[in-house]
This record gives sequence, structure tokens and C-alpha cells, in this order.
Amino acid sequence: MMGDKVYIFDTTLRDGEQSPGVSLNTGEKLEIARQLAKLNVDVIEAGFPIASPGDFEAVQAIAREVQGPVICALARANFKDIDRAFEALKEAERPLIHTFIATSDIHLMYKLQKSREEVLKLAAAAVEHAKGYTQDVEFSAEDASRSDINYLCEVVEAAIEAGATVINIPDTVGYAVPNEFGEFIATIRQKVKHIDQVILSVHCHNDLGLAVANSLAAVRAGANQVECAVNGLGERAGNASLEEIVMALYTKRGFYDRATGIKCNEIYRTSRLVSSLTGMQVQANKAVVGKNAFLHESGIHQDGVLKERITYEIMNPELIGLPKTNIVLGKHSGRHALRERLAELGYSLTDEELDKAFTRFKDLADRKKEITDIDLEALVKHEIRISGDLYQLFYLHFSSGTSMVPTATVGLKRNGQKHEEAACGDGPVDAAYKAIDKILGAHHVVLTDYNLNAISGGKDALGEVMVRVKYEGRYFIGRGVSTDVIEASVKAYLNAVNKVIQEVGGDAL
Ligand code: KIV
Ligand code: ZN
Repeated sequence: MMGDKVYIFDTTLRDGEQSPGVSLNTGEKLEIARQLAKLNVDVIEAGFPIASPGDFEAVQAIAREVQGPVICALARANFKDIDRAFEALKEAERPLIHTFIATSDIHLMYKLQKSREEVLKLAAAAVEHAKGYTQDVEFSAEDASRSDINYLCEVVEAAIEAGATVINIPDTVGYAVPNEFGEFIATIRQKVKHIDQVILSVHCHNDLGLAVANSLAAVRAGANQVECAVNGLGERAGNASLEEIVMALYTKRGFYDRATGIKCNEIYRTSRLVSSLTGMQVQANKAVVGKNAFLHESGIHQDGVLKERITYEIMNPELIGLPKTNIVLGKHSGRHALRERLAELGYSLTDEELDKAFTRFKDLADRKKEITDIDLEALVKHEIRISGDLYQLFYLHFSSGTSMVPTATVGLKRNGQKHEEAACGDGPVDAAYKAIDKILGAHHVVLTDYNLNAISGGKDALGEVMVRVKYEGRYFIGRGVSTDVIEASVKAYLNAVNKVIQEVGGDAL
């Protein structure tokens, strides 16, 4: 039997959402939270309700709708933040208020301008106030790893006395190294009274690339919760990556003897979803979920794997739910076959959604010989996502070449009404974007990122475009999928501008 459980506290929607350029709306946060529940994380940190009305609304929606994991909201150590956190959380089955204050002298002197005694009192008062609302209260000592250990232990003890059920020790600035951090956690375990009666958690940042290693060292030293984010998202260089922590504990279970409750076969799907909604691409050589993580390039390695997989593979890709790129459907497949295959992939579509997906599938089958599971998933997700867009692409014409001015004409439809414009640009994509700007009055929408990826292999591969646009200081992500990269680019931009319009609440900009 495995030793004690390691709780997985997911902060993708809070610290992860603090990644520069990431901004998720409530619908997107809900989609991620539902997937995190399928992944079976123990805690979902849904947001920081006092930070903005959007954050509040998202935490409230997740608290109302997502069942299974504990739902947590962040609050600084003051009553106003805590009241707001509980207001957002109150409909959750199992709410958790997470309150924090810094304990390092650096933060006390320069940021808080408070004495150690004042901070200790604020910490205890905050926990006590939160405890008036929820049974479960987490206290974090921000910048713990740069704090004086004796003072830190005093604050932690006061928080436990005030009723904290979880104590979190963050390496806020990613300054720790594994042996040192492990000893730090072991000292807290030894020194703090009643520490064995609470969950001891760690929250490591990746500034030196050590967030996962530090978290694992902490687990060896007695931590029983790890705070982490999917794909390692988070402030600056990010948080410890959820998939790396989970797979390290699983793959090296003989060494750690600690289990998580994560359903590993949901890892790949979760990673794809988070990357797609946040627009943060996963680097190809990223451990566990990168595109190259299970590819063998050298002839010697390929030969070894063909003879016996374990020669060069420490994890089975199927374990993390990596879909096989098998050919499933083609030009002659019918509606029924499509419905069956999608059901096997976990999608149950309404008749209307299936009609749309089938039309797109047939369209794709005309352009692409072999349609894989990955193609199908991309197509269906895209169809579902853009189905709520106010403006849909009706047609696109463009002409371009080395000795002519690129031009594009775009036709959009909204409630059956057509809108068309033409424009010139630096290239066909630029021209089409300008035509869309003219129709929608989107001249102040700024394109900040553009990424094009081939979804599966081959010259006829589906191209997936991700764009990030900025409007009035906020970021919006759009995606488009097509075998034609210009069409995919136009769909992606239109999807992003639709989001701007829908969030800003008008008909056009
Ligand atoms: O990094 C940090 O210290 C945090 C706390 C709010 C837990 O994110
Ligand atoms: Zn953090």
C-alpha cells in the first residue's frame, strides 16, 4: 500500500492566470475548472475575487457549478478581501478561503512597512475572520523561503491557533534550491506546534527552473500538499508544473511512496485545453506534455524502442491520455460513424452541434485524405467554441503574390444579415484583418501575438492559428482551424474580435 496522499492544489485559474498576456473570461474559466474536476485535482483555486468583478464572477460560477474538488478563493489578510472571497464562494459544496500575508523582512520593510508583531497579529486575525465563514481556511506566508525561520514558525503557529487547516509555505520568488527547501520544510515540521494536525502545503515558483524539484524535495521532507499549475503557468517563470509533479510521484513511486488522486489519463487533454484557452503554447521539449516528449529521433533510440519500449521510455504515453494519431475516418464516413467516434473521444454533441461538426468534417474530408483523432478534436472544439460568436465568417476572397498589392474581401454574417468589406494590406492576412476591422469598427483592437501550428503531420495538415489581441488594456484570445492557413488566420482574428465585442457588450466596436 502507498504511503500518505499528496494533495494536488491547482492554481491554474489564479496564479496561472497571472501569467503575462493571459486573460480568461468566465466561460473559459468554467471550461478549465470542469476539466480540472475530471482530472480529479483536490483543490481548484478559482481566483482572487477582490481583484476585479470578472474574477469575482468566475469564482462564483465555478463555486456554483463545479462539483468534486474543494473550491478556493484568494484573499489578502484583511477583512474586506475575506468577505468578498466568501461572498463569491458561498454556494460551493466545499469552500476554502485562502488568506496570505508576507513574512520576510524584505517584504515587511519595503512593501508592507509593518513590524513583525503587526504582521503576526494581522495573520491571526485574518484566519480567525475567515474561520467565521468556512471550516477550511488556508494561510500562506508569502515569501516564506526568504523569511527568518524562527519568526515564520511563530506566525504559522499563530495561524494554526486561530484555526487554519492548511499552512502553505511559498517560495514566492523562486529563490530556493531543493536541499535547502527540503530542510526548511523539515524544520517547520519539527518546530511548529500542532503542525501534524494541518495540511502542510508548498507553492514553488520557477525563476531558477527548480519549482518542481523544490516541491518534490518538500514532499520528501513531509509536505502533504503541492500547489501547482497546468503546463507550469504562473507569475513570471511560472509555478511548479502539475503534470511534472504528478508523473514524477507516479513514475518514481518506489522512491517517494506517496500517491496523488489524479486521473493521469486526463493530463494531456487538460494541458491542451489550458494551452488553447490561454494562448500559452507548450514548448515542444516540455516534460510530459510537450510535442517531443515521446518522440525518438536517433536511430539507436528508435531501434531500442521497437525492440522494447522501456529501453528509452520511462512513461507510457497512453498513461497521460496522449491520443494515438490513428486514421479514423475519411471521405466516405457517415454521420453515424462520426457521432460514434466523437463519443469514444468523450464528446456528446447535440443534434445541432453534430450537424455543424458533420458539415465541417465533410468539408475537411474533401481537402484532407486522412482524418485523425487529433484533427477531429480540433475541429469539434473549434466548432463548439465559435458557435456562440455574433459574427460568423460567410466568405473570404483574397489575392496575393510577389508583384501585386495583396487584397482581401471578407463577408461576415450576423443573424442572417450580410456585411462585406474589402481592404489592401502587407499580405493577405493583414488585408483580411483590415477588412474585418472596417466591418466591425475594430481599428483600436491591437494584434499582439500570432501563432500558426500544424495540428497533425503531412502537407495537407490542419493549420491551427492562435491570435492574442489587446483592447482597452485587456487581452483576448482567438483560434481558427482550417487546412487553409489564411482562412484559419481570419477565423482566429474574427473569434478574438467577437470576444471583444461580446465582453464590451455592444453590437460592434
Ligand atoms: O507566490 C505566492 O506567494 C503566492 C501566494 C499568494 C500563495 O502566490
Ligand atoms: Zn504564487
